[in-house]
Amino acid sequence: MTRLHVVSAATRPTSSGRPLAQWVTGQARAHGGFDVTPVDLAEIALPFLDEPEYASTGNYTHQHTRDWSALVDSADAFLFVLPMYNGGFTAPFKNAIDFLYNEWKGKPVGIVSYSAGPTGGAPAADMLLPILTRLGMLPAEHSVAVPGIPKLIGAEGFEAPEALSGELAAVLADVAELAAKRAAEIEAEAVVTV
Ligand SMILES: Cc1cc2nc3c(=O)[nH]c(=O)nc-3n(C[C@H](O)[C@H](O)[C@H](O)COP(=O)(O)O)c2cc1C
Repeated sequence: MTRLHVVSAATRPTSSGRPLAQWVTGQARAHGGFDVTPVDLAEIALPFLDEPEYASTGNYTHQHTRDWSALVDSADAFLFVLPMYNGGFTAPFKNAIDFLYNEWKGKPVGIVSYSAGPTGGAPAADMLLPILTRLGMLPAEHSVAVPGIPKLIGAEGFEAPEALSGELAAVLADVAELAAKRAAEIEAEAVVTV
């Protein structure tokens, strides 16, 4: 089964994205095709990039990098739950991406962006896409943008607008398809090697 990490990219203690990420995690589990691990970037609590060598070498001197590397490496695919700050993605999330390199490579990724305003963070997702492609990741064709996030957080957590489950299902279907294709390619390569 595809190991899917749902990464909540926010680090603020009062993040509205955390309840959204919990809802996304529940939807991904309900899909049935994924072994889902929630990842909260605030709990990972990385410092600013402090490794002496390039991430592409895989030579990590700090335990926090080794732990982050092992967590990302253990995923087959990702959903990034992405806040928008000042029209773009957040600095802590870009920092977390830059800590690693090969761990991201070749892996499918879907984006669920959100913001207080009407765009739902779509500009942040648009900004992130070339970076993910540069890393060799496989972005899903569909994405989800959630506008007006503060108003969607109630006492019981995230209150999903009606259309959202269907929109997320399209992203999950993309990610599942990309992951299946990649798994088949890896298997074919292994057969050739043997
Ligand atoms: C530094 C900062 C900048 C923001 N810039 C925007 C913005 O450009 N457009 C927008 O619609 N909302 C903006 N917001 C509102 C956030 O999208 C909203 O608060 C969202 O909940 C942030 O995610 P978080 O709660 O997980 O931190 C900004 C919030 C912060 C903290």
